[in-house]
Amino acid sequence: MSGSIPEELIDEIKERVNITDVVSEYVSLKKVGANHKGLCPFHSEKTPSFTVNEGKQIFYCFGCGAGGNVITFLMKASGMTFPDTVTELAKRAGVTIPEASGRFAPQKNDRQEALYKINDSAASFYHSLLSESEKAKSYLKKRGLKEETINDYKVGYGGEGWDSLYAFLSKKGLSLTLADELGLIIPKKSGGYYDRFRGRVIFPISDIHGRVIGFGGRSIDGSEPKYLNSSESVLFKKSDSLYGITVARRWIKESDEALIVEGYMDLLSLHEAGIKNSVATLGTALTAGHLRLIKRLSSNIVTVFDADQAGVKATLRSIDLFITEGVNATVLTMPEGHDPDTFVREKGIEGFKKAIKSAMPKQCQ
Ligand code: UTP
Ligand code: MN
Repeated sequence: MSGSIPEELIDEIKERVNITDVVSEYVSLKKVGANHKGLCPFHSEKTPSFTVNEGKQIFYCFGCGAGGNVITFLMKASGMTFPDTVTELAKRAGVTIPEASGRFAPQKNDRQEALYKINDSAASFYHSLLSESEKAKSYLKKRGLKEETINDYKVGYGGEGWDSLYAFLSKKGLSLTLADELGLIIPKKSGGYYDRFRGRVIFPISDIHGRVIGFGGRSIDGSEPKYLNSSESVLFKKSDSLYGITVARRWIKESDEALIVEGYMDLLSLHEAGIKNSVATLGTALTAGHLRLIKRLSSNIVTVFDADQAGVKATLRSIDLFITEGVNATVLTMPEGHDPDTFVREKGIEGFKKAIKSAMPKQCQ
């Protein structure tokens, strides 16, 4: 299969990992006879032709012909390289990859790991700064966020100084060039760096696997812009990323419905209210990338946009996408002056659910 990965390792992984579990993270599967069926994540379809045979530990799509084993599935579905996929599955299977197998981890992946490590360290650092800042804590309290939510989503604070994170990264010996590439620090003309997210409340953005890919920072003193996001990087593609997906993933699958909102605070307030099958687009227009990510979990989508002009425009633009991507979509527009955050805080979970129901197309009720 691959010249340099020990064949026994691959066999052991295939033996220990159940393909149905792995596929289920991407596709809503239903048991049909001896097989499991669902909507193919590799092409656009409305009736399920994607099949998993648990006995044989293989998958096959009768629509597009994609097929293979657990390794080929995860590789294709996640976009990871072969060695990364094997490493990921080995971790799940509790199989230790022998040191010498480092030979199959090319340099590029070491680099990627280093980038993840920096993001992860930065998220922990920001979170620790929050506990020290009365100003930031009182801002979040004013916004109504519970401590539990703040901890669960690792909300943080960028610190008062110009170079809190820069100093932390230097002290830990983490690569400043990579931190710059991730948009966490910015080089100064005079040499050295300063922090990008200073003085802001920080929302770490994670991918479907729970790895930190970027950050959003909200100003708390009225300075512009209101929100600052990580710059695009190898890890962070804004138009393919959904805030909250790590937690929402299982709830979207379970409820077979996904709510899409626009903002960080909208997402946190909904999750806090118990509406956890929701994700946020980080203020960008909804893209095909977003829909493809969600479609692996459910093809029933409710978009909840603000009532402002931008929201109405976003709604109109999305309709085309829903049709091309073949999803069942419902559009819920918040009443004038509300966004999902303020609406759920004022009307509660019941009020929000009622609004969703009233937005449902008649034939779906
Ligand atoms: P909104 O302007 O609707 O803000 O932007 P909000 O989510 O209600 O924020 P709060 O409640 O005032 O804190 C929606 C989303 O657009 C992105 C952010 O992801 C934000 O959550 N945005 C907004 C930016 O990226 N930059 C901005 O300057 C403003
Ligand atoms: Mn808001």
